[in-house]
Amino acid sequence: MPLELGYPTDDEFASFVPMTFEAMGGRSEFVNTVWPEGFTKEGQEMSRQRFLFLKKIDPTCKWVKVTDNETNEIIGVAQWNVYEGQKPPEMIVDGPPGTWKDETEKEYAQELFKAYMEKRWKFIRENKLPLMCLNIMTVAPQHQYRGAGTLMMQWGVQLADSIGAACIIEATTEGRWLYEKSGFKLQEHWTLDVPERFKDRPKQRLFFMVRPRTSGQP
Ligand SMILES: CC(C)(COP(=O)(O)OP(=O)(O)OC[C@H]1O[C@@H](n2cnc3c(N)ncnc32)[C@H](O)[C@@H]1OP(=O)(O)O)[C@@H](O)C(=O)NCCC(=O)NCCS
Repeated sequence: MPLELGYPTDDEFASFVPMTFEAMGGRSEFVNTVWPEGFTKEGQEMSRQRFLFLKKIDPTCKWVKVTDNETNEIIGVAQWNVYEGQKPPEMIVDGPPGTWKDETEKEYAQELFKAYMEKRWKFIRENKLPLMCLNIMTVAPQHQYRGAGTLMMQWGVQLADSIGAACIIEATTEGRWLYEKSGFKLQEHWTLDVPERFKDRPKQRLFFMVRPRTSGQP
């Protein structure tokens, strides 16, 4: 199979950021809100800069890519946080000026983000390190079902097993099968809860999934 796992360089983000939004297909209210305008050049550029900023300031942030060696195209990317020495601070999402079209959209994004992170933060508070969280797992629609997602999951699962980490994922329906195949267990179906003034927005439903550590502490 001509698919190869690797690590993207900073210069490569421009080439795959549009693909990640295409893979999500506008179906995730969370992505549409926290990473807005993913289908415009301006929105993609804003997300590229935010991804690179977070990668630079946070050494726990690990990106992997899958390249199709026949075309040299990056067809999939995943991003994990690997917490070994220290638990992460419980910080609300932010972005440079212009990320959101106005203060209401920013406030909505921050409320949705808090609702999304609530289970993750609880899990992190209640469990010992090492811990790993999968934040992004996307494969270009025309390259799905070729094993790229599996390669990126294998990377994460092998690392988790080698350091004795428990892993968590807030999964979409599309991702769920891949994660179950990799040892994740469904904990809960949940709908992100936002304040009353945002209740008319589309619902974001997710699966909270955990892969128990396979070595080290229980
Ligand atoms: C989830 C995703 C990353 C899987 O990538 P992929 O490269 O197609 O995965 P693989 O080819 O390695 O397939 C892994 C398994 O998932 C299944 N699968 C792949 N794509 C699927 C889809 N869209 N819907 C349901 N199942 C899917 C495959 O059947 C396969 O199982 P099998 O080996 O038993 O046949 C990809 O479908 C995607 O990008 N989806 C949209 C974005 C998304 O929702 N990501 C998850 C965020 S939590």
